[in-house]
Amino acid sequence: DPQAQIARIRQIKADMGTELLIVAHHYQKDEVVQFADARGDSLKLAQVAASNHTAKQIVFCGVHFMAETADILTSDDQRVILPDPMAGCSMADMANSYQLTEAWQALTARLSGDIIPVTYVNSTAAIKAFVGEHGGIVVTSGNAPKIVSWALQQAKHLLFLPDQHLGRNTALALGVPASEIGLWNAQAGQLEADTGADYRVILWNGYCSVHQQFNVAQITGLRQKYPDVKVIVHSECQHAVVMAADASGSTRDLIDYIQQAPAGTRIAVGTDNNLVGRLIRENPDKKVMYLNPMSCACILMNRIDLPHLAWTMDQLAAHQPANQITVDATTAHWAKVALDRMLKLS
Ligand code: 13P
Ligand code: SF4
Repeated sequence: DPQAQIARIRQIKADMGTELLIVAHHYQKDEVVQFADARGDSLKLAQVAASNHTAKQIVFCGVHFMAETADILTSDDQRVILPDPMAGCSMADMANSYQLTEAWQALTARLSGDIIPVTYVNSTAAIKAFVGEHGGIVVTSGNAPKIVSWALQQAKHLLFLPDQHLGRNTALALGVPASEIGLWNAQAGQLEADTGADYRVILWNGYCSVHQQFNVAQITGLRQKYPDVKVIVHSECQHAVVMAADASGSTRDLIDYIQQAPAGTRIAVGTDNNLVGRLIRENPDKKVMYLNPMSCACILMNRIDLPHLAWTMDQLAAHQPANQITVDATTAHWAKVALDRMLKLS
């Protein structure tokens, strides 16, 4: 019974007080977000985890790499719980340590070692650790231009993983010519369509299956129907989509754009539909709409729902915490090096 689950979660929250912290990513369902002490994009949630020293139990409503990041940034006496451990991120799973080691060996040999690795926060702790150990840094969609331009000053070449679209959008926006951007095929273990160029930026061939569902035809169609429409999309969208839109950025940037728009503005949003639905409900004075109303919710984020949250809270109340996410000490050490470099610059 959902009403009973809601009442139990409220009661357990009240009983546990500041010992408990519930955080939720913007893509979470409303039935989960209603209980969050903090909601945010992945950068904000990383900062919240890093600055909270009182909560001993952190229930992380998001996906696996975010919970790992929180575990890395909190102290040993703080437990991070993911209400459904199957809530992964298909993009993060597109880069593993074996593939990265292979890529790194080939690229450092080709580029005489003058290369820095940069990983999107949407990656496993093992990938972040590799990056930290090799002088690199973590990036999120909320700080990509700042971090990538910093990285471009540290070495002549840059390997960006796993999201090729965030990497390409950021590199092109910073003025790196398209001819100097290469694509690493992680499955084949080689550069795609290698022209032999002295690539400044090499992108991993990962992508987000949710943001892959937006295309230029959807934007053109909407502009024909509503000539006044503003289109905003997440920077995980393909470059052509970002170019056809009026603005792009992180989930936080998309929310800010809508909040700052004058009343009555028509705005189509290209990102996870849980967030777009909430933006439509929370901004009745603006005509917020889906860029693609069809099936654009992240099914992995959606694994966290009211029944999973209620069960997790029941386990906490019974002093039998379940679904704790832990990162081993060595991996956590090096991953934290890469995360701290980013947090210092953010
Ligand atoms: P944000 O960094 O904007 O929170 O995005 C995270 C994410 O997974 C987007 O798909
Ligand atoms: Fe991963 Fe894409 Fe889901 Fe974000 S929306 S968590 S990048 S699969």
